[in-house]
Amino acid sequence: MNILVLGGGAREHSICYAVKKSKKCNNLFCIPGNAGISEVAICKKIDLKKKKEIFNFCKKNRINLVIIGPEQYLEDGVSDYLKSKQISVFGPSKKASKLETSKSFAKKFLIRNKINTAKYKEFKSYVSARKYISSIEFPIVIKADGLASGKGVMICKNEPEAENALSIIMKKKKFGLAGNKIIIEEFLTGFEVSYFAFFDKNSFIKLGYALDHKRAYDDDKGPNTGGMGCFFPSKKMTKEIEEEIFKKILLPTSLGLKNEKLIYRGILFFGLMITKEGPYVIEYNVRFGDPECQILLRNLKTDLLTIMESNLQDKLSNINIKTDNKAVICVVLASNGYPGNFKKNKILKNLNKVKSLKGIKIFHAATSIKNGNIVSSGGRVLSITSKAKSINSARKMAYEALNKIGWEGGFFRNDIGLKNT
Ligand code: AMP
Ligand code: GLY
Repeated sequence: MNILVLGGGAREHSICYAVKKSKKCNNLFCIPGNAGISEVAICKKIDLKKKKEIFNFCKKNRINLVIIGPEQYLEDGVSDYLKSKQISVFGPSKKASKLETSKSFAKKFLIRNKINTAKYKEFKSYVSARKYISSIEFPIVIKADGLASGKGVMICKNEPEAENALSIIMKKKKFGLAGNKIIIEEFLTGFEVSYFAFFDKNSFIKLGYALDHKRAYDDDKGPNTGGMGCFFPSKKMTKEIEEEIFKKILLPTSLGLKNEKLIYRGILFFGLMITKEGPYVIEYNVRFGDPECQILLRNLKTDLLTIMESNLQDKLSNINIKTDNKAVICVVLASNGYPGNFKKNKILKNLNKVKSLKGIKIFHAATSIKNGNIVSSGGRVLSITSKAKSINSARKMAYEALNKIGWEGGFFRNDIGLKNT
């Protein structure tokens, strides 16, 4: 098969790594890709808004399957467009993607289907939202309804913070149209898990889970980021909790999709809060998580293309997903200043030395090649994933690798997988 992966982050690099391992993969392409991806796939720069050009690229290169990484392309309808041109696409329809692209849509789906989620109210007007926050207890969480690159969620400890959040989203329109509607919800406590399962028209099958570290600095300090690292497994994830997730979250989601005739084909990512009262859905994501994807795919033993093909044919019930169950951690190396302002084009050395270390893989997130050097081109630059018998060994390996890279242009968290194990 000829495969095209859309996206250019570490998630897409890890998807390319898994696809390349498949005996079914003939040629592998990636748009736009990055310096690391270009070592495994033929990368091409095409503006992903130019759907027709992507279609032409697919025709020219006899692409048999397009795999979409980021949610934005799903919202932009790339998946629907290519499918309408008879190209096989792994990535849900624009309609089904609303589970992520509209928080209000997701909340209503969860409530209709009696799936635990934080109590909430939605508002279209600043005045009524402002009035509401003067009558409630804190903390609360305020969210822009639409996609906001993971930045549209604000946890507010008191009324002034909430007023500021409302002003940023609804008056200053920081997230544009995504903030035309907001939801205000109760603050949940517990521990968070990113849980993944493939869903088709008839059934679903678990892929696995990971625990993410969202804050920029050690001890969960500093601003929220796209994710600074993650790990698997966690001792907190007992068999009982996994069973509860199956019964209270996965099963009713699958039944809800069927009852509402909302056809979802693809990977579904459940952002869960495991509270004292059991698992609650914080959000659905209609794609692989980043960085979670990197560790899930390192542990995946079953051929990814076989799973994807079965998924698209609604034959997931015929599939048995085998995973390695080893300890895997992923530590993100980010540019100094991320998630705020940072400099680009900083040279990364020593990557070749590290790449060959046993149990280590480097997935590039934002790198390019300038004058023969690999340089940074974004906030999260690359990540190290390490696989071992225990989290402690995996941690040791990952941090040795990062110290060998010794990049002065950036930083990483030192405590990935340290707690919660
Ligand atoms: P979301 O984009 O909805 O996943 O939110 C981003 C992050 O905000 C989550 O991963 C949580 O850490 C936090 N968060 C969102 N909603 C809640 C909630 N209701 N209670 C506590 N934390 C939340
Ligand atoms: N790591 C969380 C996400 O991909 O949204």
